[in-house]
Amino acid sequence: MKITSARFVASLTDVRQLPTDGLPEIALVGRSNVGKSSLINKLCGKKNLAFISSTPGKTQALNYFLINESFYIVDLPGYGYARVPEHVKAGWSKLIENYLSNREQIKLVLHIVDARHEPTELDKMMAGWLDYFKIPYVIVITKIDKIARSKITKQVDMIKNAFGKLKYCQDFIIFSAITGVGKNELLSIIEKYISS
Ligand code: GTP
Ligand code: MG
Repeated sequence: MKITSARFVASLTDVRQLPTDGLPEIALVGRSNVGKSSLINKLCGKKNLAFISSTPGKTQALNYFLINESFYIVDLPGYGYARVPEHVKAGWSKLIENYLSNREQIKLVLHIVDARHEPTELDKMMAGWLDYFKIPYVIVITKIDKIARSKITKQVDMIKNAFGKLKYCQDFIIFSAITGVGKNELLSIIEKYISS
């Protein structure tokens, strides 16, 4: 699949405002600052489509991007950012939970983790949660450009092992928003799921 058009359509903080056109949705989840917005920009070949920041916790709403006029990529607020006040955190997780547990249009979730670190407890909880709700997902190991070539296999194995047994995980994909590695593989998987 080639992405020929991509545009931002809405930033929503209430599930009652979600699009009603029934188009398939690909949702992105992951720790704050892990690289969700950068991944969207790389996939779409547009530098400033999704807002990238060195300050974690920037994406605080469900950000909808319409791709090829035929499906949405939905950028979700990142979790696990310590410096956000508790009441704001609670609001975000409610929003994410409401969205993920009720939205039939979700065809696939991209669960983004950082290649440099062992998955956090929240990363594991998110996977467990997607399993519980029977939502198919792929685990995208991003920022792989930060890992020395000779250490990639070992690092990926460590991450897979740390997650343990997963039910609805379809695949692990290594990715870099800098080099573009993994982009074509991700696009193929997305294509498969939006047409299923
Ligand atoms: P929130 O919206 O705050 O949850 O963050 P996010 O997950 O959308 O992360 P974002 O894309 O804004 O990227 C966070 C930081 O990581 C930025 O400084 C990016 O430039 C950097 N970054 C993202 N992806 C990569 C990557 O693949 N490689 C490297 N080296 N840096 C990356
Ligand atoms: Mg973001």
